Amino acid sequence: MQSQVTLITLYKMKKKGEKIVALTAYDYPFGKIVDESGIHMILVGDSLGMVVQGESSTLPVTMDQMIYHTRIVSKAAKFAIIVGDMPFMSYQASIKQAVVNAGRFLKEAGAAAVKLEGGAGVSETIQAISGAGIPVQAHIGLTPQSVHKMGGYKVQRNEEQLMADALEVESAGAFSVVLEGIPSTISKKITKALTIPTIGIGAGPHCDGQILVLYDLLGLNQGHIPKFVKQYATIGDASRNAIKQYIEEVQAGKFPAKKHCY
Ligand code: KIV
Repeated sequence: MQSQVTLITLYKMKKKGEKIVALTAYDYPFGKIVDESGIHMILVGDSLGMVVQGESSTLPVTMDQMIYHTRIVSKAAKFAIIVGDMPFMSYQASIKQAVVNAGRFLKEAGAAAVKLEGGAGVSETIQAISGAGIPVQAHIGLTPQSVHKMGGYKVQRNEEQLMADALEVESAGAFSVVLEGIPSTISKKITKALTIPTIGIGAGPHCDGQILVLYDLLGLNQGHIPKFVKQYATIGDASRNAIKQYIEEVQAGKFPAKKHCY
């Protein structure tokens, strides 16, 4: 068995030009499937607000919910590095609160690192968390926790601002940065300018790695599918078909059959 991915693994991969492949996960069974498939990084994302809890944004997600989900995913992972996502208002109000909350992900939930959204505006927070020995992944570009400030989930195109944010989070001590919803030409320049790995989502092919929301990749979600998503399976449909078959068989007296009985 390969040894667990660490920050050093990720830096080496960037140096060698090997792509880092990341996915989100929110529970034990999928954490295990994702980990056993050989994914390098599992983000327990606050996207769980939308894809697990049925909320219309990530804003209602709480620290306690993130700790619960991160803990059950961490139990499943033997290979991937686990990153816990800091939810809205767990790191914005004060640096002290941010450090305490970041610490909970390592102390109570088994994560090896945390992620938070923002660029230059959160560089002091990144510095403080990282200074406490907690690896921090930054997240710039389309930052869903700022949906109201951005006026919606919009592709971010201000190259100067994006580059400044990327350089600032790197100097603050971030070990990696997620680039979300930005044009490929800009993410290519940022990836070249940084020594830390960039992980893209809706940011084109030039990032050091890619991340997707697990349920988008598996085709579990219904409704609007963003342009950057590729569905590799249709398990929503497969689940519906299986459940319909179960209903039919129970109603027709075909299930349970003899082999299912004691
Ligand atoms: O919350 C999340 O899942 C994320 C990823 C989409 C990067 O932030």
